Amino acid sequence: MSDREHEIYDVVGIGFGPSNLSLAIALEEYRDNGRANGGENGRAHDQENEISSLFFERQPTFGWHRNMLLPSATMQISFLKDLATFRNPTSSFSFVAFLHASGRLPQFVNNQDFFPTRQEFHQYLEWAQARVADRIAYGSDVTSIRLLPGAVPELSDRLRLEVADAAGRAGRVVEARNVVVSTGLVPSMPEGTERDERVWHSSEFLEKYRRMNPAELRRVAVVGAGQSAAEITRFLYDELPHAQVSAVIPSYGYSVADDTPFANQIFDPGAVDDYYFGTDQTREAFWRYHRNTNYSVVDDEVIRDLYRRSYDDEVRGVERLQFLNLTRVTGVKRAGVETRVSLQVGPDAEVRELEFDALVCATGYNGMEPTALLGDLDRHCLRDEAGRYRMERDYRIVTDPEMRCGIYLQGGTEHTHGLTSSLLSNIAVRSGEIADSIVARRARKADVR
Ligand code: FDA
Ligand code: NAP
Repeated sequence: MSDREHEIYDVVGIGFGPSNLSLAIALEEYRDNGRANGGENGRAHDQENEISSLFFERQPTFGWHRNMLLPSATMQISFLKDLATFRNPTSSFSFVAFLHASGRLPQFVNNQDFFPTRQEFHQYLEWAQARVADRIAYGSDVTSIRLLPGAVPELSDRLRLEVADAAGRAGRVVEARNVVVSTGLVPSMPEGTERDERVWHSSEFLEKYRRMNPAELRRVAVVGAGQSAAEITRFLYDELPHAQVSAVIPSYGYSVADDTPFANQIFDPGAVDDYYFGTDQTREAFWRYHRNTNYSVVDDEVIRDLYRRSYDDEVRGVERLQFLNLTRVTGVKRAGVETRVSLQVGPDAEVRELEFDALVCATGYNGMEPTALLGDLDRHCLRDEAGRYRMERDYRIVTDPEMRCGIYLQGGTEHTHGLTSSLLSNIAVRSGEIADSIVARRARKADVR
């Protein structure tokens, strides 16, 4: 293949977490539907229904927040909100189909639990990705998306993507009529805090923890009052019976994640329209009333587990689990193996310094941010007064009218599509909407020709 002739796809996905896995399945089922309806003309339908696609993932194999696969962590959504069911309840890619294939369907039902462990859901995702493996390139980091060299947007119906291999070597170049960016959340550290071998973000927790000798960890601290912080605090308390575990929490105590039925409606597919087509006032109300379904909150069961451990300590006259409440981390200094942490404590913001052997910052994430990937292409993407991407309902960035390629986002659209943007709740339906949009735009282009 010469330099000027590259692989060309209808869709290239960047990042292969659950969102783009769900899209790969939606495209696969679109093709299979065509075959099923094609009868004797199956071949013609095959061509019509084949949306060529390739998905790039920088990890060497599939992995969904592997560093947080803690033994007893459970899913925060029902198993029915899997990769496909809400779009196609008869899909062979459903969690129920996975259970059947694994010979565990009766046992799962006997367990009477809507919320599988994260470990089991990970097995499900691995099973599903293996069935679309011919469309995934692992160990492949997309480094840029550009217009074709010398092209003006109105004349080009393709974008060019550069991809580096696992060793960081540039080399592969592909072209795409549509890109779907799904690169995930971006870890956020407290200001003045750099990561190192003893200061970790929760997103790298298990990897960094396993590099340590547990005997060396006698004083550890976990920062934050969200689900990640509570799960890691519980894990460290159980794993390190000789250690003191300090929970640095900005609130007075952990707050519960509201997953009661009425509040849960915020994650229904229909809520996306209510948010997208709502007014600024309705959108503001969504956040004001329902932020506590997801952010800085913890599942009831984990809160009770932690309180029980703390109370048992009290009965035994030990204080292994220490809660530093109304406290924020403001900086960290490294002195050899000592990690000196600056804290702002209580209503008067009293400054304190404490030393730990390791500090885990479970301080959350920022939304997906594709600006760097888009580079110069970004100037064709329109933004609102607050500097955020303007988005079409079908998750396409609003671009200059002459741009003919589609740039879709899975993630990073909380400001336009609401709370499900960074979550799993709506991925089956969202992927179906993106697939439909790509198919419909292709058909419109064919009509124009
Ligand atoms: P995700 O982050 O999963 O995947 C993005 C992928 O893109 C990664 O694999 C990354 O390696 C890859 N990538 C990034 N840049 C790239 C590049 N330039 N080139 C190639 N590849 C690139 N939500 C929910 O609804 N229910 C739940 O139970 C949970 N549980 C949960 C647990 C934990 C520990 C966290 C941190 C978060 C959750 N979430 C959640 C929210 C979470 O955002 C969601 O579950 C999914 O991970 C979203 O899937 P995505 O595919 O969009 O991103
Ligand atoms: P999060 O909910 O955003 O919580 C971050 C916490 O860090 C907040 O309490 C925040 O307090 C605190 N914080 C930030 N800076 C701080 C500082 N300098 N000092 C002290 N505290 C600070 O993040 P998360 O817990 O990682 O959760 C992110 C997403 O992952 C959520 O969707 C969650 O449901 C999901 N998750 C799911 C599972 C699971 O499925 N089992 C496990 C983990 C996470 P303020 O709010 O005051 O800033």
